[in-house]
Amino acid sequence: MTEGQPFDYSGRCVFVAGGTSGINLGIAHAYAKAGASVAVLSRSQEKVDKAVAELREYGGPVLGFSADVREFDDVAAALATARGEFGELDVLVSGAAGNFPAPITALSSNAFKSVIGIDLIGTFNVLRAGYEHLRKPGAAVINISAPQSSIPMQMQVHACSAKAGVDMLTQACAVEWGAAGVRVNAIIPGPITGTEGMARLAPTPEIEQIIIESVPLARYGSSQEIADCCLWLSSPMASYVTGALIPVDGGWCLGGAAQIFTEMRRRLENSRG
Ligand code: COA
Ligand code: NAP
Repeated sequence: MTEGQPFDYSGRCVFVAGGTSGINLGIAHAYAKAGASVAVLSRSQEKVDKAVAELREYGGPVLGFSADVREFDDVAAALATARGEFGELDVLVSGAAGNFPAPITALSSNAFKSVIGIDLIGTFNVLRAGYEHLRKPGAAVINISAPQSSIPMQMQVHACSAKAGVDMLTQACAVEWGAAGVRVNAIIPGPITGTEGMARLAPTPEIEQIIIESVPLARYGSSQEIADCCLWLSSPMASYVTGALIPVDGGWCLGGAAQIFTEMRRRLENSRG
């Protein structure tokens, strides 16, 4: 939590799908630190155990589930258990994702399906199974999208297609669930420091530098800055915000992100000779 931030989530219940590392773990930390009961879910039992141990340091109730978001029944069982332990969910975050840079012709049908399965169908599963456990009215759903959702990028056709779907899923759910008092929004992070996503997409200091130069604020963002937006978005201060796709990206989507993968591909191919 940013020093002096005003949000108190005592007595609130938060579920973070994909919440065991990187940006999503940062989000789980922020809610736990603000007093919420927090549940996280991801595939690796080791990552789940580590995240749960970290989150318990704040003193509140924490649950961890090992499951694949592509498996609806497993996701549904985890959400039902969290609701049984915590009560109705106030915040549901869907952030599990998979990505790697690969040109279209290097992508098998199964590779494309894998990313669509995790990012898009996984988000559908989390929201579809989560809806019955949400506090109505009052709950907030937050999907973690990406600049790929609206910006076509080389070597990213799988992530672009999946995250475009996540954005539309966000807005279609906002339209259907507004009457029940459930708000549904997405955050579009820019390049975030210290994450698996950036380790995969910007694997050299040279590429990191190109990315920094393409961001109007001229730096990477932090997981804390994404978490701060979540804390606001699920609070009463955002009570009239739904269906929004909110960039938290230092201005990257204003132009810099559009060309970056073209340049990265050129440099990667040059460096390989
Ligand atoms: N280039 C091209 N294809 C790739 C690839 C790469 N770098 N990495 C994996 N694939 C292909 C595999 O070859 C396989 O296709 P095939 O069956 O035709 O050979 C397909 O993708 C699925 O791979 P698999 O390892 O079985 O999938 P998985 O479901 O276990 O893992 C991934 C999903 C591939 C996305 C994996 O990288 C992952 O688990 N990522 C999670 C972490 C992450 O990506 N974090 C960043 C979030 S932005
Ligand atoms: P990360 O650390 O790899 O986070 C991905 C999380 O999802 C992990 O907890 C992972 O844990 C889990 N996960 C992956 N596949 C899963 C599956 N099939 N089922 C359940 N859980 C699964 O990556 P990150 O870089 O922080 O990215 C987090 C989110 O931010 C993603 O949605 C990403 O698209 C978005 N984003 C990131 C950036 C960036 O700069 N990094 C920029 C824009 C958007 P397991 O391996 O244990 O499953």
